[in-house]
Amino acid sequence: MRVITTIQDMQTEIIKLKSQSKSIGFVPTMGFLHEGHLTLLKRAREENDVVVLSIFVNPLQFGPTEDFSTYPRDFERDRSLAECEGVDFLFYPSVEEMYPHSSSVRVIVQERTEVLCGKSRPGHFDGVATVLTKLFNIVLPTRAYFGKKDAQQVAVVDGLITDFHFPIQLIPVDIVREEDGLAKSSRNVNLLPDERRQAAKLYKSLAAAKEIIEAGERNPRTIKNLISNMITSETDGQLDYAEIYSYPQLEALDNLEGTCIIAIAVKFSKVRLIDNIILEVS
Ligand code: PAJ
Repeated sequence: MRVITTIQDMQTEIIKLKSQSKSIGFVPTMGFLHEGHLTLLKRAREENDVVVLSIFVNPLQFGPTEDFSTYPRDFERDRSLAECEGVDFLFYPSVEEMYPHSSSVRVIVQERTEVLCGKSRPGHFDGVATVLTKLFNIVLPTRAYFGKKDAQQVAVVDGLITDFHFPIQLIPVDIVREEDGLAKSSRNVNLLPDERRQAAKLYKSLAAAKEIIEAGERNPRTIKNLISNMITSETDGQLDYAEIYSYPQLEALDNLEGTCIIAIAVKFSKVRLIDNIILEVS
């Protein structure tokens, strides 16, 4: 595995690989790798000649009061995990390398950002779309792998790839969870011990919602109330949102029908966690 820190070196390698017609699987991350990330890397390894992992904590997608400075980082650990997964190139640029001057162009996401994390984190998806535009242009991947844990991100990236004509296949990958159901996340280490125990309720509330839907419930308000009551009464977290939309359109529903996403965000003392389930409702 080669660690590459400059855009020029990465592009030089990519040009060589392209001239040999190699397929490139790309997994963009912010590091502090866990099994969720490793699952994306395994898929990329299976499906491509070459695997590129990027680790870059992107300041542009964090709001001024968000956790950019406390976002967990451990490059040496990430490097050995990446090596074990058979990564060929680890692209690890600095902030100065990616943003050497104040940007003259930024990508603005126009659709699907009025809801969920787009609503709670203004500018977040513009930051994600901007860094991914840069990374896609540097890595020129054949396939790019994204986790459904960030389901709104998958929908936004789908729009980015389509609208900007990136010749990239988007591969969404299922959520990887801890034994108690908590979705794996780099941020989980910043939960206090009590909060870590309570955090399992996020998935439990989604599972309870799924159960009443399977029993015939179709009213979004009833389902949202169930989730909100569980989170409020069984955790010290503050519910940021519990919402139900069509997926991937992210449009409001009067009654559950078709492919729906039930998504929640809960703020604990130092971290905000998100989770979701996507269901086919007939
Ligand atoms: P990060 O949070 O590091 O996540 C990198 C990728 O791993 C994302 O596609 C995310 O959805 C996926 N992932 C995280 N937890 C997962 C889990 N439990 N199961 C499955 N996949 C999981 O998402 C970002 O970074 C950034 O926004 C990025 C796309 C790199 C742009 O900066």
